[in-house]
Amino acid sequence: MLFVPILAATVYAAPVEQLDKRAACSSYTIINTRGTGEIQGPSTGFRTMNRNIQAQIPGGKIYNTVYAAGFDQNSALGTTGIVNQVKKGVQSNPNQCFILEGYSQGAAATVNALSKLTGANFDAVKGVFLIGDPLHKRGLKCNVDNKGGSTLKNVSGVSAALIGGIPDAWVNKTLDVCIYGDGVCDTTHGFGVNAQHLQYSGDAPTQDLGTKFVLQQLGA
Ligand SMILES: *[C@@H]1O[C@H](CO)[C@@H](O)[C@H](O)[C@H]1NC(C)=O
Ligand SMILES: *[C@@H]1O[C@H](CO)[C@@H](O)[C@H](O)[C@H]1NC(C)=O
Repeated sequence: MLFVPILAATVYAAPVEQLDKRAACSSYTIINTRGTGEIQGPSTGFRTMNRNIQAQIPGGKIYNTVYAAGFDQNSALGTTGIVNQVKKGVQSNPNQCFILEGYSQGAAATVNALSKLTGANFDAVKGVFLIGDPLHKRGLKCNVDNKGGSTLKNVSGVSAALIGGIPDAWVNKTLDVCIYGDGVCDTTHGFGVNAQHLQYSGDAPTQDLGTKFVLQQLGA
């Protein structure tokens, strides 16, 4: 589709720098961390965007974080799994790229992994895409609504006061997406798990935003 002519143009006419960037991400893994109550496997929240991404950049794998995603909201095992997956991957192939995706409790598990990924592991993660994040922290540049706008820049998630949120060093390669009124990431306009919190998987603007962001971060 769109990708084919772009790839051809890159191969024949791109500056060397751009070719290097592409080559560096020829192999990538999306680490997909689902939300509370979703069965082990990929989150429904990223299904459409990941299908788009994999169709446009071959060579991508998806790793579904293994953890309970239980109602007790203890996502520590998920965080450990995300960290280990990146570290192992970088050790076995230093040129491998990673994208971290998290929905709801899975977003919290992902945010808590960030400060544990430093040096080569930090560099290997090209992008972080979060939806319905309970650790959504007011004021960050990476806070966007589902259309990529800044209308919800200054709202907080339900657990934002408890734990740190996205570390400064990560803000530039993160989108922390919140739909207006989702009571998990936007406690100013919503309360708890409501219809808006369950909207991401079927929301075209969210899926478009995620597709474009990840393709861009992977250097496509
Ligand atoms: C967010 O807060 C900052 C600092 O107080 C302010 O400059 C900005 O206009 C606010 N943005 C929105 C969308 O509320
Ligand atoms: C984020 O990007 C901006 C603009 O490109 C840059 O000025 C800033 O230093 C970056 N911040 C970090 C922590 O890398």
